[in-house]
Amino acid sequence: MSARILDGKALAADMRREIARAAAELGERGITPGLGVLLVGDDPASRSYVTAKEKACAEVGIHSEEVCLPADASREAILEIVRGFNRSDSVHGILVQLPLPEPSMETPVLSAIDPGKDVDGFHPVNVGRLLLGLPGFIPCTAHGIVKLLQKSGIPIEGRHVVIVGRSNIVGRPLANILSSKGPLGNATVTICHTRTRDMARFTRQAEILVVAAGRPRLITADMVREGVVVVDVGVNRVEDASSPRGYRLVGDVDFEEVRRKAAAISPVPGGVGPMTITMLLYNTVLAAAELNGLRNPFAG
Ligand code: GUN
Repeated sequence: MSARILDGKALAADMRREIARAAAELGERGITPGLGVLLVGDDPASRSYVTAKEKACAEVGIHSEEVCLPADASREAILEIVRGFNRSDSVHGILVQLPLPEPSMETPVLSAIDPGKDVDGFHPVNVGRLLLGLPGFIPCTAHGIVKLLQKSGIPIEGRHVVIVGRSNIVGRPLANILSSKGPLGNATVTICHTRTRDMARFTRQAEILVVAAGRPRLITADMVREGVVVVDVGVNRVEDASSPRGYRLVGDVDFEEVRRKAAAISPVPGGVGPMTITMLLYNTVLAAAELNGLRNPFAG
């Protein structure tokens, strides 16, 4: 058996046409959706994510404003940029690329973002709203994974989903969505993490396995059951002398091995990554509409 490929790139392209249409409709009312982007430090992976997000914005008609600060920027300097984005009429969504060079600054910085512009869904108010099942911004990777499953026709309700990784960015919000009542949820969810003993015991039970651990080849074929649906969230740079960049991107799953056992699997690159960016675009257009008192441009 060889698995069906969950083609996030193709699905993202479809969704971006719809987002571009919604952005153009706002444009007719004189509103250009805008994303304020803050990058602190010069981590090459963060730089490339930010560049990809800005390029995707331009392609759907979202204007982006980028501020870069040095790795040793003070907390006050970072907060000043966030407050400027909060005040700006041309910025509807705010993205502070994580991780920050100083991780202890993340909570105060994310908490300073206007929750109505928090298109990453990381502000405590939006985290709480998700937990309570209230409307709010949903973190983009978790939202993108659920859309990828849903639009690929993979049933979620009643199934056992095992998530490897408990981050605030992916694992926790995803567990929340999938276990909640409603059309995107009703699954039974297990979260595994670095302190889980005998992880394979859990991953082998998964009907849907989501891996967001940031470790290349963490999941091998012996750790999954036949017919599993695998979503690989990992983006790892591994040395590759044959590539002009000197590295290539791989996920957390041994793709070649696991695809022989799986019913469906998302590739890296071209799986979850494009969906994450798409949900950021979606949230930014939604924010632009809501901040201007307009109805949800994606609601029917
Ligand atoms: N770092 C890794 N993923 C993300 C994300 O979705 N948003 C932000 N802001 N930073 C990230």
